[in-house]
Amino acid sequence: MERTLSIVKPDGVRKGLVGEVIRRFENAGLRVAALKRVALRKREAEAFYAVHAEKGFFQSLTDFMSSGPVVAMVLEGENAIKRTREIMGATNPKDAVPGTIRADFAEEVEQNIVHGSDSPDNAAVEIAFFFSQREIQ
Ligand code: RTP
Ligand code: MG
Repeated sequence: MERTLSIVKPDGVRKGLVGEVIRRFENAGLRVAALKRVALRKREAEAFYAVHAEKGFFQSLTDFMSSGPVVAMVLEGENAIKRTREIMGATNPKDAVPGTIRADFAEEVEQNIVHGSDSPDNAAVEIAFFFSQREIQ
């Protein structure tokens, strides 16, 4: 059993894709162990994506991530990290396999609908960023 953190990004919330994203994860057998809608401040978006602080797209990415509410969730299941990222598809929707969330709904590399943790260590840090222990069941 593994846990990961997924976020419906501001573009996904604006497009009304919260239910669709959750449905795809649940249909794949992943369980929603925690869920919340939250508006990230710019500073919080910068902290969340601190690993990308040196990248050219950091300012634009953190502006985008703080441009409207997001829906964060903890997903639980076997190989949850890898399976969540498979369901999301490649970072750039142009490279994403048809049937993945990003291929089906994203138009560009930055505003790509959904986030998923990329390792067990990052999943633990990212889950703790959004949720207290008692919010996860
Ligand atoms: P994420 O962290 O959001 O799940 O996405 P990822 O692992 O597939 O991609 P990552 O390399 O971690 O990049 C984080 C997010 O930054 C934006 N990005 N923009 N303009 C660009 O070239 C560029 N590259 C990445 C995307 O929103 C990406 O999801
Ligand atoms: Mg990433």
